Amino acid sequence: PPPQKKSAPQPSDPCKGCREVINKVIERYSKPWKKQEDNYQKFRSQLSSKCHGFDKAIITQANTPVGSKLVYDGEKKRTLQVTPEIFSTFAKEHPFPNKTWDTCAVVGNGGILTNSSCGKMIDSAQFVIRCNLPPLDKGYEKHVGMKTDLVTANPSIFLEKYGALMGRRRPFVESLRSYGNSLLLLPAFSYGHNTPVCMRAVYSIEDFESPTRPVFFNPEYLQHLALFWRSQGLRAVRLSTGIIMASLALEHCANVHLYGFWPFSNHPHGLYVLTNHYYDDRQTKTKFHAMPAEFDLLLRLHSQGVLRLHLGDC
Ligand code: CDP
Repeated sequence: PPPQKKSAPQPSDPCKGCREVINKVIERYSKPWKKQEDNYQKFRSQLSSKCHGFDKAIITQANTPVGSKLVYDGEKKRTLQVTPEIFSTFAKEHPFPNKTWDTCAVVGNGGILTNSSCGKMIDSAQFVIRCNLPPLDKGYEKHVGMKTDLVTANPSIFLEKYGALMGRRRPFVESLRSYGNSLLLLPAFSYGHNTPVCMRAVYSIEDFESPTRPVFFNPEYLQHLALFWRSQGLRAVRLSTGIIMASLALEHCANVHLYGFWPFSNHPHGLYVLTNHYYDDRQTKTKFHAMPAEFDLLLRLHSQGVLRLHLGDC
């Protein structure tokens, strides 16, 4: 047999098979977008009737009196009876006014926001929701904006960046300055270990007189929301923060815009490599979340004119 010719080494493909997936997404995405009022109303009323986010998403002294039993949504067997001390950390009344906002921007942390110039557009929304205390300074402002009405915090941030708030708490409280007097939404009753560290976050905010207003997710809402998305075909151990906030926005806002939602490693247009977050390249725990499956559902809502995903530069 003739000697086999060694083929020249190929330059590695930066997209590693993602081209096909991305092209399919872009095909679905690129039809002109128009809000479909009937689809929006239908989806919103399904969501409201199953989850009641409007008055139940956040724990208040009105919806959760002393003595009530909270069932942790991440650990089904764990419950907590509300003591007067815990009750005193609850918001007195529902922090959202009893009306819908016209426009809401939900900002995910995807690397797709890098150099997007979307800051102004995001900040022009009436209500801006961000996830996991993302950095807004250091030049990010132009691309992600700075207005924040509500920001979530995963307690892992307190453990990793602020020594579980067991020592000095000033660095944590100072880091909240970028978010002004926004609401800080904490999953204090999702897992048992979240509760004490979230309480320390609340006490730190109070003791240092920070204008940030801490509030807690209602675990019952998170439980109902997980069931709702399961009924829509989502199989995931935990919902990602982004889809939780998009759901909350759909109940509260007439026009929901999503930015920074792109769980793929390459840019939809240039196909160049992206970092996972716009501020770092920490990877998502695929064991818990199913972001591409969530994205598929969000893209479906985009195509139905229920919400609007932003995937390009602004
Ligand atoms: O807490 P979690 O790991 O869910 O979120 P994150 O990494 O801080 O990002 C916030 C949200 O942005 C996620 O929950 C996703 O919904 C969205 N995201 C995305 O769609 N694509 C990425 N590459 C990163 C985040």
